Amino acid sequence: MPETYEFLNHALTLGFDVAWRRRAAALAAEAGGRRWADMCTGTGETAVYLRRLAPEATNVYAVDFSLPMMEVARRKPAADRIEFVEADVKVLPFDDGSLDAVTMSFATRNLNLSEELLVRTFAEFHRVLRPGGLFVNLETSRPPNPVVRKCFHAYVKLLVEPLGTRVSGSRAAYAYLASTIPRFHGAEELAGIMRAAGFDDVTYRRLLLGVAAIHRGVRR
Ligand SMILES: C[S@@+](CC[C@H](N)C(=O)[O-])C[C@H]1O[C@@H](n2cnc3c(N)ncnc32)[C@H](O)[C@@H]1O
Repeated sequence: MPETYEFLNHALTLGFDVAWRRRAAALAAEAGGRRWADMCTGTGETAVYLRRLAPEATNVYAVDFSLPMMEVARRKPAADRIEFVEADVKVLPFDDGSLDAVTMSFATRNLNLSEELLVRTFAEFHRVLRPGGLFVNLETSRPPNPVVRKCFHAYVKLLVEPLGTRVSGSRAAYAYLASTIPRFHGAEELAGIMRAAGFDDVTYRRLLLGVAAIHRGVRR
């Protein structure tokens, strides 16, 4: 499954995920500073984009609790300049206020759908950011237009789930994806969850008619 994960992401998003990850990394890089971290890094794609944008002296951390996923990330050319951290992002091994930027892509649904538990995890990200630090989150979203929403959810059910299952061999992973996408929070709801976790100046941008969104929040 880690071996087919990236191929399926690119195929099922028609390659859009690449531009979205780059945009998320570029937004986070605006924080400047010397310590950036990509949470739930998986195979490390967003961490690599962060690394490319980072000045030489900036440390880029890639955090995940799945060693097989991080094993794929470790094979990437930029990996020798990324510090991999095996940890649960709900209890981060970073000091208060010690990071300048935090990114997370396509993992919010994996953490939990419950608003209360998401607030707790985002509050953990808030804790490790310095005042002025940035949190940038990229995730699938709920298109505001009901016709687009219906088409998107049909696409997920009729194509993403069967194709993902067939190529990856993991029915559970792609059934989970297909069942959580329609239930996940809309962009404004997710902004509210970030605010409840302590983030200020929360803004978001809907992507491709709202099938995904990038949120940005500041720790004041
Ligand atoms: C769908 S993948 C996303 C990977 C990557 N961020 C991307 O954009 O492709 C979700 C990742 O989150 C990781 N994950 C889920 N819950 C986690 C947690 N509590 N702590 C650390 N990693 C977690 C999984 O191991 C997996 O690698």
